[in-house]
Formats: sequence, structure tokens, C-alpha cells
Amino acid sequence: MAVFELREVVYRYPTGERALDQVSLTIEPGERLILVGPNGSGKSTFLKLLAGLIFPEEGEALAFGLPLTPERLKDPEQAYAFRRRVGLVLQNVEAQLFSSTVWDEVAFGPLHLGWERERIVQQVESTLRFMQLEALADRFPHRLSGGEKKKVALASVLVIDPEVLLLDEPTANLDPKTQKWLLGFLSELAHQGKTVVMATHELYLLPYLADRIAILGDDHRLWAVGVPQEVLNNRELLERAHLVPEESWLGGGARE
Ligand SMILES: Nc1ncnc2c1ncn2[C@@H]1O[C@H](COP(=O)(O)OP(=O)(O)OP(=O)(O)O)[C@@H](O)[C@H]1O
Ligand SMILES: [Mg+2]
Repeated sequence: MAVFELREVVYRYPTGERALDQVSLTIEPGERLILVGPNGSGKSTFLKLLAGLIFPEEGEALAFGLPLTPERLKDPEQAYAFRRRVGLVLQNVEAQLFSSTVWDEVAFGPLHLGWERERIVQQVESTLRFMQLEALADRFPHRLSGGEKKKVALASVLVIDPEVLLLDEPTANLDPKTQKWLLGFLSELAHQGKTVVMATHELYLLPYLADRIAILGDDHRLWAVGVPQEVLNNRELLERAHLVPEESWLGGGARE
């Protein structure tokens, strides 16, 4: 059974801003899908929709074979089952951090899911160790550096070990060493059979981390879905999607 199935999804923000238009896509278990496209094309919106934070205005979205609707996620039992399986790290991690210490931040998910105290302590400690965040455990998350905040947000999702990870520009703000560590970790996740859907502007990641690439265009429609090689060889498409600078910019301007 597919992890997600989107059928002709249209989404507009309450302000009337159109963010997704006629998007149809199926994501299979264990797949690593990378979403690319220009600023404002709808990548973050797409991830929020998969995370059940917003819902299609037209069309339909299914997760694990069941419709993603506000009614369903209002039911505590169904919401629990869904949130246990799907974790999202927002692009703007500030919006995700609300606890008074890093430790509490990472413990929030497990507490909310009603785990036993001992299991919570054990999982939080091991996640902090794994993410090399132990030294920051007592700090106030909002007063950390950008990269540190990102790591805390990631830890707060990894701690519950979800089947599906939704990552919005996970490498942005990370130093090269931490980026490399994260990439290694993400490829490890694939071996564990996790489903990873990630939005990024870093094209160099695609051949290493993606089974498939989806390109969202500036009209908020899906312009292409395919294996990395196929998509990356389509220069005209990449230029149209603002993913590579146009030839004239690369060449002429700089030389003249
Ligand atoms: N909270 C919001 N309220 C109203 N409009 C929004 C909101 N968030 C995003 N939008 C609009 O929806 C469209 C899609 O935005 P989205 O954040 O999904 O783009 P994105 O592809 O993630 O861009 P970026 O590469 O800059 O992160 C844009 O036109 C944006 O202005
Ligand atoms: Mg975004």
C-alpha cells in the first residue's frame, strides 16, 4: 500500500494565495523523494499537507490508504496513529520549538504519545547523544544558533522513530561537517526502509539521496517526476524551474 497518494490536489491559503494546483503523486514505502522548485512554488505547502497540518481544498490526499481529512485527525485515536508514523521538520524551525529546554523539546513527542517515563528518559537521552546535543540539553531552544535549532527540531522528530520523515530544507543552516553527517544519516535511513520526502534547493544532493525527484513549477503544478538522471539531464526543464542559472548569466554577463 502506498504511503501517500495525492489526487489532483488543489490548496489555497486562507488569504487566497494558491500554493498547490492539480498535484497528483503516489509515494511508496521506503521511497526517498526529493522535491525541488523555485521559491514559492509550493514545496513547504506540499510537506505540510503530507503531515496533515493542512488539507486539500479540492482533490484528495490519502495516507496509508486512509483519507487525510480534518475530521479524521480530530479523532484522538486516529491522530495518534498518524502522528506516530509521520514526522515533519519545518523549514522555519522556530515555529516548531516551544519548550523551555532542549531536553523537554525532545521529550514532548514521546510524552504526548503517552510513553512510559523510563522509556521516555531512555529515548531522549539516546537521541540527544546521537545528535551530539547533550551539551545543550538544558538550554532554551530559542536562544540557540540556527543550525543548533535545526538539530533540536530534527531530534524532536527522530526520537519517536517515525516510519515517514518529511524534511523541509534539512541541510540549510548546517555547517559542512554537520551537513555531511546528516547526509550519511539520511542514506542510512533508506537502508532501514524509512520513507523520506524532502524539499531542498541543493541539487548536488539529488543523485545521492533521491530515488525520485519531483519538480514543482512556479504555477504550483508538478512539472516532472522521475529518476534523478532523467530529470537532471533535462536542461531546458531545469532552467524553466529556476534550478540552474540560464546560460547567458553563467557566461556573457560575467565576462563582459
Ligand atoms: N502561511 C501562508 N499564508 C499565505 N500564503 C502562503 C503562506 N505560506 C506560503 N504561502 C504562499 O504559498 C505559495 C507556496 O509557498 P511555499 O512556502 O509552499 O513555497 P516553497 O516552494 O516552500 O518556497 P521556498 O523555496 O521559498 O521555501 C507561495 O506563493 C507563498 O507566498
Ligand atoms: Mg519552503
